[in-house]
Amino acid sequence: MKVLVKRTAGYQEFEVPREPSQTVLDVVTYIQRKLDPTLAYRFACRVGMCGSCAMTVNGVPRWTCRTHVDRVLEKETITVAPLRNLPVIRDLVVDMGEFFDKWARAKGQFRGEQTRRDDFAKVSPSSGNRRQADAGIECIGCAVCYSACDVVKWNPDYLGPAALNRAWTLINDVRETRNLERLRAVAGDAGCHACHTHVSCTERCPKGLSPTASIAGLKRAVAKALVKGEL
Ligand code: SF4
Ligand code: SF4
Ligand code: FES
Repeated sequence: MKVLVKRTAGYQEFEVPREPSQTVLDVVTYIQRKLDPTLAYRFACRVGMCGSCAMTVNGVPRWTCRTHVDRVLEKETITVAPLRNLPVIRDLVVDMGEFFDKWARAKGQFRGEQTRRDDFAKVSPSSGNRRQADAGIECIGCAVCYSACDVVKWNPDYLGPAALNRAWTLINDVRETRNLERLRAVAGDAGCHACHTHVSCTERCPKGLSPTASIAGLKRAVAKALVKGEL
């Protein structure tokens, strides 16, 4: 098959043999190991856990370690490029700094009040909050949604789907202590109200999460807090 790879200097063409159950990450790894050791790309777990292998494949952001060549091959060709909406460091490697900075800006870190000497908190799996928190907890921080979101492209300050999904997960965590601060952080111009509900993030999320639904939840929570005069 023909593989077009976006290098720092422009697209480069490679010929890669087909293998059974071959993934796009296998293809990129073959190129780097057998054809051009200078190709820069990033991966770690190869099993859909770490979120580091995301790239743009035939124009669509995807996790490459779980994307089979059979699913994406078009006319015996694959085009691989770095994720959109993030600065490129080299070849297929993007700088994730602003993506994780936005998690921090959306207060994406858990802060409870119990110590290690306290018993585990008992949170019923069937409670509404727990179900909503669980719906977004499996995020692997791959930035596929961030790369798919046009609002991020138009407004680079926008917190984006992953950071807002994380904020909503914590707002539903009954052990969390900073939720008003978090609502303030996501209520501004670059926060949940900037989302145009295009749903590209939800369509592309490889873990099947719905940042769009999380953002809708944040909008409701911000409106309620405003009505109560809490913000
Ligand atoms: S639903 Fe919102 S966050 Fe998701 S892609 Fe659309 S504008 Fe971006
Ligand atoms: S919400 Fe989905 S697409 Fe976005 S970073 Fe998390 S796992 Fe990746
Ligand atoms: S290499 Fe870890 S998710 Fe793909």
